[in-house]
Amino acid sequence: MTAAIIDGKVFAAGIRARVAEHVTRLRQEHGITPGLAVVLVGEDPASQVYVRNKGRMTVEAGMQSFEHRLSAETSEADLLALVQRLNADPAVHGILVQLPLPGHMNADLVINAIDPAKDVDGFHISNVGRLGTGQKAMVPCTPLGCLMLLRDRLGSLSGLDAVVIGRSNIVGKPMAQLLLGDSCTVTLAHSRTRDLPQVVRRADIVVAAVGRPGMVTGDWLKPGATVIDVGINRIETAPGETRLVGDCDFDSCAKVAGAITPVPGGVGPMTIACLLANTVTACCRAKG
Ligand code: GUN
Repeated sequence: MTAAIIDGKVFAAGIRARVAEHVTRLRQEHGITPGLAVVLVGEDPASQVYVRNKGRMTVEAGMQSFEHRLSAETSEADLLALVQRLNADPAVHGILVQLPLPGHMNADLVINAIDPAKDVDGFHISNVGRLGTGQKAMVPCTPLGCLMLLRDRLGSLSGLDAVVIGRSNIVGKPMAQLLLGDSCTVTLAHSRTRDLPQVVRRADIVVAAVGRPGMVTGDWLKPGATVIDVGINRIETAPGETRLVGDCDFDSCAKVAGAITPVPGGVGPMTIACLLANTVTACCRAKG
């Protein structure tokens, strides 16, 4: 079997186009322009790239982008004061504080200071609780993007066996909740899971989000499984030469899977597209 390639780049471009149309209607019919504030503390190179891309795509979708870059020495109190200002600003409908934060800051405290209605990351404890209890919530962007790709590929997910590898708050846990919400039988596996290949072999759906390059190999998969690779790992291929690879060994997995997301060009582009969609959702809910 040779797997179908799930093209996240094309799918995400479709979402962004629909977001842009929605933004145009909001402006023409209601005089409102959705605004997204992104806060970056410190100079982490990967975070700088993400934040730049978020800002560019926010503007391309016709929305307002507010970027706040703070030095790594900023105090937690100053960051909390900025969050409060953004909470109170009616032009700001979505707030994202880029993680990780410097070590002297309590990330939970900062995230939970964001107005839950503006928490477009879906990381606020109130949104986490709402998602876990099946209430309307802001949903974290990466797992939301994965769910969209799965629904597009498989239609109803009801009754399917899903294995999520990785238990992070950003991807693994909310992914498990979303799959449960779509009536999958969900296993949330992690670094301590015993006989992981055997666990993965049961799955109709595999979501890999562990940050270990090429960990999942084709012999772990049930033939025809749908594989969503959330990993973005930069590996050195030769001295001074690097390449992005996922958590799944693409070549061996593609021989067994029914469908698979590539890295890059799979889940990655979906995250920003879902962030823009969440910002429009937050704006519409604020408008009433
Ligand atoms: N760092 C890595 N991924 C994310 C994300 O989805 N949101 C935020 N705020 N920070 C991140």
